[in-house]
Amino acid sequence: MILIFFGCTVGGIFTRGPGLSIIEATSVVPEGRVTPSDSGLWSDDQIAPLAEIVQFAHSQNQPNAMTKKGIWGLIRAFVEAARRTLKAGFDDIDVHGAHGYLIHTFLSPVSNHRTGEYGGSFENRTRLALEVVVRLARKLAEHSVDLLDVSSGGMHPKQKISSEGPMGAYQAPFSGDVKKSVAGDGSLLVSAVGLIKSGFAAQHLLEAGFADIVFVGRHFQKNPGAVWAFAEVLGVDINLAHQISWPVKGRGGRGSLVAHTK
Ligand SMILES: Cc1cc2nc3c(=O)[nH]c(=O)nc-3n(C[C@H](O)[C@H](O)[C@H](O)COP(=O)(O)O)c2cc1C
Repeated sequence: MILIFFGCTVGGIFTRGPGLSIIEATSVVPEGRVTPSDSGLWSDDQIAPLAEIVQFAHSQNQPNAMTKKGIWGLIRAFVEAARRTLKAGFDDIDVHGAHGYLIHTFLSPVSNHRTGEYGGSFENRTRLALEVVVRLARKLAEHSVDLLDVSSGGMHPKQKISSEGPMGAYQAPFSGDVKKSVAGDGSLLVSAVGLIKSGFAAQHLLEAGFADIVFVGRHFQKNPGAVWAFAEVLGVDINLAHQISWPVKGRGGRGSLVAHTK
């Protein structure tokens, strides 16, 4: 009960940035309570529920450097999650190393202040990302990294990320640079992402060599038919579910989704 009570009352305060929190009066003898539901610590049974509350409060906004054991556990967790992903039938696995998520915090000197083998030099800061990928690649046998999706990933208010980019695609210059630097036998594809909002922009990025593939995120939240809209402006026919396509293309496949071509 105490957990639910504190979860509802002070839980929301813990999550909103206080440096020090003092919870309400806690009785040292049962007869000292003001109400029967007061918090108390007159018995060892009362340690565990309060310890959970303390642990939760400490977990909020108090970054702690992961121990080496923690890092190894994390890598194992990635491998285990990959096993579950395959079991669920997914075709690919995206290891998220941007946007201030954990791997990104190791990569960037802005957030990685560690000493030792996971901090400092570029080689050390990239160690976790590479260890995760190598362990996953081993687990996935013949599979390996096929695609590098290039993001910038704001994680600190002092970071200045330029909003300039070809046709509004502000991160495409980065993928263009990465593509140039990894261009080899073409076995590693490079993709661009970030404010790609039209078929023309997507096509331009591919043709101008900024990327091999483009990804679209938020624009899909606005318009789930974004692929359709992109295809329409480019005059490309796409597969649609039968239930959707017959009224658009005609029952016999006649007609076209694209009004202004052919
Ligand atoms: C709700 C939401 C969830 C996201 N989740 C992921 C993710 O799991 N992995 C990833 O690599 N990027 C993720 N992203 C980032 C997008 O892939 C993309 O990099 C970012 O939104 C910029 O592209 P956009 O302008 O087309 O949205 C997410 C974005 C949004 C809006």
